[in-house]
Amino acid sequence: MNKIPESQILVIFGASGDLTHRKLIPSLFELFERKLLPEKLLIVGVARTRQSTDEFRKSLHASIIENGKTYATDNPYLENFLRIIYYIACDTTDGEAYTALFREIEQLRNAAGIDDNILFYLATPPLMYPVIPRFIQEQHQNRSTNGWRRIIVEKPYGRDEAEARHLDRLLCDIFPEREIYRIDHFLGKETVQNILVLRFANSIWEPLWNRNYIDHVEITATETLGVEQRGNYYDSAGALRDMVQSYLLQIMAFTAMEPPSSFEPEAIRNEISKVFRSLRPLSREDICRNTLRAQYAAGSTNGQKLPGYREEPHVNPQSATETFVALKLYIDNWRWADVPFFIYTGKRLAEKRSEIVIHFRNTPRTLFPGQCCGSSCNQLVITLQPDESIRLRFGLKQPGADFEVRQVSMDFFYKSLTSTRLPGAYERLLLDAMRGDSLLYSRSDALELSWHYLAPLLDDWEREKDEGLIFYPAGCTIPREVTRIHGHPYILDESVCSLR
Ligand code: BG6
Repeated sequence: MNKIPESQILVIFGASGDLTHRKLIPSLFELFERKLLPEKLLIVGVARTRQSTDEFRKSLHASIIENGKTYATDNPYLENFLRIIYYIACDTTDGEAYTALFREIEQLRNAAGIDDNILFYLATPPLMYPVIPRFIQEQHQNRSTNGWRRIIVEKPYGRDEAEARHLDRLLCDIFPEREIYRIDHFLGKETVQNILVLRFANSIWEPLWNRNYIDHVEITATETLGVEQRGNYYDSAGALRDMVQSYLLQIMAFTAMEPPSSFEPEAIRNEISKVFRSLRPLSREDICRNTLRAQYAAGSTNGQKLPGYREEPHVNPQSATETFVALKLYIDNWRWADVPFFIYTGKRLAEKRSEIVIHFRNTPRTLFPGQCCGSSCNQLVITLQPDESIRLRFGLKQPGADFEVRQVSMDFFYKSLTSTRLPGAYERLLLDAMRGDSLLYSRSDALELSWHYLAPLLDDWEREKDEGLIFYPAGCTIPREVTRIHGHPYILDESVCSLR
């Protein structure tokens, strides 16, 4: 696991953008400081903005201080790190510009004595995903006889099944499948990877991990943030594409998959695809009964007023884009037949929290009066963020004369395992791609299958526009209407709210 990657050049397209500044460069600096990067490495930023390498380095310096983890401006590693970064201005829509671009990259590579290995990172608007690889190919830079070429593609990977398939065909025509890294930063989170270890390094769960003992599963990712400055992108995507198609279905697959035959990427990816293949197709009736979409209206949090989604910058004032989704789905295989999986995700809610809750079945008979209400006393709560933790909830006797049952919990906090901070998702994923490990990246068939599953819902919502869209006030816990598809009233608490 601690293998240092081979010497290489990382070429980031979209270098003047937000992702590069907020996530990629601070993560690379983390890796540099922890001495996990190859000794011979160059990072080349490419974008249209005219600026020198010095100017680029200055802007990155500021970003690292702002977005990294508590660095002093005079951190001795910072200057050394910035020295391996270069900037090349290039109009990436112009095929001819690539000749000069690759000439410069080649010069840098020779001067630094780096092997012929290039990792491309597409951190550009999705519009450029089909364009840049074609031009790379025209320059014969998509393969090398003396080294390797890899490409990381940011999400969104297409807008629907047809687009994803089209993009895939194009990329697979240019790069071998094993060199295409489709990034989903949630999979880079330690706690998401820990689902696999929790399930497959322990024997106690396996006998219980099925329809005989599990009543239902909830997967939630709520955020306090609104769309911030990403109105343009988000308004054409919505929560279903932004969060469900990628992260939440992947997390569901980690939770539901069969034990893989080995820990090889392909063995795990095969199991993930099998889960997607077993998803019960969404009928028209399921869409009406088991799905819900909502949008935040103006509201408040801690006394601070928050605008409604339609008032956000770069958002259509009549937008029907959903900022909240609730979904009930079924996996039609032997392990999970008739066990509902609930997925909830939304922006501008009261809390930022991502978690998986496994609700075990109730005891066959209730012996004690007042035994846990709702579905059951027993839950396994895997909190992915924040306060990464695992909790086992069960019923115990409330001290006193009666047999009153009270739900208690046994808690494990991830931070008690280590005194060092947990590595960020991009750190892990960048390092893996540099090493050639694709385990935590999505495979093309899984992506297509997830798009295929959601297609009827995407079509329906596209057709219905704001018919059926409900509204919730920004800052609330969860829209009240979720009970309709959930069926369990215990999900409600006093802060659950609705506008209609
Ligand atoms: C991004 C989505 O990929 O993930 C955003 O596009 C979302 O809309 C973000 O806010 C959430 O990621 P995290 O790591 O902050 O939970």
